[in-house]
Amino acid sequence: MDVVVVTGSAGLVGGEAVRAFAARFDLVVGVDNGMRRNFFGVAGSVADSLADVERIPNYLHYRADVRDLDALTSVFGEYGTDVKLVVHTAGQPSDNWAAKQPLVDLNVNAVGTMNLLETVRAHCPDAVVVLTSTRKVHGDAADSLPLVETSTRWEIEPSHPYHEHGVDESIRGDGANRTFFGVSKLAADLAARSYASGSGLRVGVFRCGSVTGAWHAGVEQDGFLSHLVRSAVRGATFPVIGHGGKQVRDVLDARDLVEMFWHFYLDPRPGEVYHAGGGRERSASILELIAQYEYLTGGEVPFEYTPEQRFADVRWWITDTRKFRRDYPGWQPVHGLADILLSVHARWADVPANPLTGSGPRC
Ligand SMILES: NC(=O)c1ccc[n+]([C@@H]2O[C@H](COP(=O)([O-])OP(=O)(O)OC[C@H]3O[C@@H](n4cnc5c(N)ncnc54)[C@H](O)[C@@H]3O)[C@@H](O)[C@H]2O)c1
Repeated sequence: MDVVVVTGSAGLVGGEAVRAFAARFDLVVGVDNGMRRNFFGVAGSVADSLADVERIPNYLHYRADVRDLDALTSVFGEYGTDVKLVVHTAGQPSDNWAAKQPLVDLNVNAVGTMNLLETVRAHCPDAVVVLTSTRKVHGDAADSLPLVETSTRWEIEPSHPYHEHGVDESIRGDGANRTFFGVSKLAADLAARSYASGSGLRVGVFRCGSVTGAWHAGVEQDGFLSHLVRSAVRGATFPVIGHGGKQVRDVLDARDLVEMFWHFYLDPRPGEVYHAGGGRERSASILELIAQYEYLTGGEVPFEYTPEQRFADVRWWITDTRKFRRDYPGWQPVHGLADILLSVHARWADVPANPLTGSGPRC
């Protein structure tokens, strides 16, 4: 039997991994304790997504906490070497939340990852492991790049090598400011690479930019595109924070990210680190994103601007994915920015209940 284990299986990336891999494995084992609701309240609940994946016949859910080594041991102990792929997405995803509770953040993101890798080493050492890391491990290093301000966005100087393809994996974050979230994710990222080089685990590290999609339970502290659309659909005010609203991000649909994992699984390169993002053609500033959403839907995004910027919040980030595409030429993102905006819009326009809430008792 071929088993894939997905941690964070009710969340955005984990849920899409479950939906994509259910047809490619005999069994999908999901691990998620619904902690997103503890982080962000009922608006952050992943109950709807959990209910959706639980309809998949070969999906089995374990409400386990990745901080609990015994719980992970008991899940992995059941399947042993049948586990062929482990996709680790369980985590605390917000810089702001981490600033409030850095020890919890460290435990979930860093210790949780160590627990998982230790469990893989003990029960299924030949499994391929995918770690969802973040561009935030580089801190605010990108803010030292030569940037220019245009009427709608921050942009890198056209003569700079990053202009055409974005930031590659070689950017150095040594002297950069880094949030506590960046610290906990960097610890996990480094641990994963040590398990690859020192213990022979077949781990790949994916440093993601901004990933989103219809199932993202976007809230003010995490998931800006989802939160923007969700606010617009509900007629709520969207907060634009710092940099004149001209900060640029590239966006990748979680379904495209999951296909990167699939390519890696088929031909793993242990210890490799890949940037994962949407690239220049899926990039926009917040102001541009608002304009594009309004153009596409005819709706309006009421927003309020606060000039005080977030700590270590860079003005410009576009992800260079050429390293991954060189190693895996079969991968290309298929979802464009308009497609992403419309699918997120359709999701929230379709949720009839009370606004900004999830539902159900379990998450
Ligand atoms: N979405 C992005 O833009 C983005 C960008 C960079 C990195 N990442 C990383 O990708 C991963 C997945 O992100 P996402 O957007 O799907 O997040 P998400 O919050 O939607 O999903 C994470 C899931 O993990 C679960 N979880 C949290 N703590 C847990 C614990 N202690 N034990 C078990 N389950 C727990 C949550 O309930 C949630 O369902 C995270 O590690 C995040 O840091 C995401």
